[in-house]
Amino acid sequence: MTTKPQSDSSLTQNSSEPTNSAASPNDNAACESSNQSASQGWVYSDIVKDHFLSPRNFLMGDETKYPHDAEGTVGNPVCGDQMKMFLQIEDDKIKDVKWKTYGCASAIASTSALSELAKGKTLDDALKIGPAEIAEFLGGLPAHKFHCSVLGHEALAAAIENYHKQQ
Ligand code: FES
Repeated sequence: MTTKPQSDSSLTQNSSEPTNSAASPNDNAACESSNQSASQGWVYSDIVKDHFLSPRNFLMGDETKYPHDAEGTVGNPVCGDQMKMFLQIEDDKIKDVKWKTYGCASAIASTSALSELAKGKTLDDALKIGPAEIAEFLGGLPAHKFHCSVLGHEALAAAIENYHKQQ
């Protein structure tokens, strides 16, 4: 279970404390831990745990203060969670990426991994980073959490589409 946004505007009001609005690793940790004990088959790799507890490129603070060339927001139809991604683009390559989410632990870890994989890649190559590559990078994901890795991938695609529309 994850915290659901009231609207997209609430997604954008993330301040310096992620636990009060968008991505909330600690809140989600409690939820995921509870879910894990409820269904014994859940196993997270150490890499997943690391990226969940220390998400890379997570946008702390006001997104309007992060200069970016493109952004994309998507929702996961499976669970209703949301992801927002911001890109700095130079010479058709991703110079930097930031993101925020209402997603679960798996979505946070997956998007953290994706953000690391995408940096420095051309836009076309970044689009090729799919859930399977993200899961491999993380040392695997529980099968029923695989859909969570799609959220970041789709937000990245939406941001790249947003960039192309501006050209
Ligand atoms: S349960 Fe919604 S992204 Fe994982």
